[in-house]
Amino acid sequence: MSPLQPGDLITGLEIGPVAHGGHFVARHEGQVVFVRHALSGERVDVRITDVNRRYARGVVVAVRQASEHRVEPPCPVAGLCGGCDFQHVSAAHSRELKRQVVVEQLAHLAGYEFTGAIADVAPSPLHWRGRMRYRVDDQGRPGLLAHRSREIVPLPDGGCRIALPQIADPPVQSRAGGELRAVATAEAHYFGADESVEVTEYVGELRYQVAGDGFWQPHVAAARTLSEAVLAGLEPEPGEVAFDLYCGVGLFSGVLAAAGCRVWGIEGAATAVGLARRNVPGGTFVAGDVGRRLARLPRSADLVVLDPPRTGAGAEVLSRIVTRTPRRIAYVACDPAALGRDLRTLAELGYRTTAVSAYDLFPLTHHVECLAILEPR
Ligand SMILES: C[S@@+](CC[C@H](N)C(=O)[O-])C[C@H]1O[C@@H](n2cnc3c(N)ncnc32)[C@H](O)[C@@H]1O
Repeated sequence: MSPLQPGDLITGLEIGPVAHGGHFVARHEGQVVFVRHALSGERVDVRITDVNRRYARGVVVAVRQASEHRVEPPCPVAGLCGGCDFQHVSAAHSRELKRQVVVEQLAHLAGYEFTGAIADVAPSPLHWRGRMRYRVDDQGRPGLLAHRSREIVPLPDGGCRIALPQIADPPVQSRAGGELRAVATAEAHYFGADESVEVTEYVGELRYQVAGDGFWQPHVAAARTLSEAVLAGLEPEPGEVAFDLYCGVGLFSGVLAAAGCRVWGIEGAATAVGLARRNVPGGTFVAGDVGRRLARLPRSADLVVLDPPRTGAGAEVLSRIVTRTPRRIAYVACDPAALGRDLRTLAELGYRTTAVSAYDLFPLTHHVECLAILEPR
């Protein structure tokens, strides 16, 4: 076997199944190669970008035999910009690929059989992101970073194809370098949004104040979609005690409080905690790390919703949650692998997964949002 080196070109590589992370698996002389911008069944030329002891990574530079699911990317800088890695895939097939990844990750890591589909949440895969973090190049042009790189790819004519139209095409900046945050809601939009900018988001009748640079679900349809799914999964009863862990500005606290629950939330970002207190005046919110602060919440809870960062919650936090013996848990996850690991831990702690649903809340990328519902065994 001749080990691959960065810069090598492999011609006519046959592409296998999709893998977690949006790469496609191929083999070259026995060596595993994870290939970006490919599709299963294709024959492509691949430039190797990096190599480690276990596998190589590469990117498609020419397609010899295309998949029927390959489409012309809607963005002229697709492939250069690191933002959207499924621009070359039809919208329906990208959901099928995400389904395969969710099936594989949950089976492999949690022994759970996902039989659902990835729900389509919007009529178009374009212009769905209400929050953007542009980088400004040395000529003041806003752009986005290339894949695993510090290189800035300037926005194409017409701007970013996934940002909401109001923030898709920021003006050239007078200052070179740095970041340009942009936020758009139904009512307003800002470039250079920071903590001092406060925007209003709505979920039905519920109103939430969010800091310009603070967390809010990025897809315009996400807050409503996930809130409805969490409510349907938890079936809260008035008077029940509900925990909202990793609560941000109190999205799920708000909907659970509106359903009559007594809500406690924990969030690490101090600004978000201040906003959660204003957004959900009946709730009690604690600032700090979920693992450390759980001890400050009531000894028992009927319902728990948790929406941790990509790495998941981990065994320590989960073991503290189950001591409250909730009758149901709703776990919102943006990484199916982290979800799989945590579902397995929860199974060991006596909670079985009763349902998993998945949503296409990051169109044109490999990312997918899942919601798992658990109950005591
Ligand atoms: C995916 S966001 C979810 C926010 C909220 N549930 C929502 O939907 O708007 C995750 C949140 O967890 C917070 N966070 C991350 N790690 C944390 C930790 N160890 N303890 C407490 N909060 C944390 C982040 O600041 C962020 O607000």
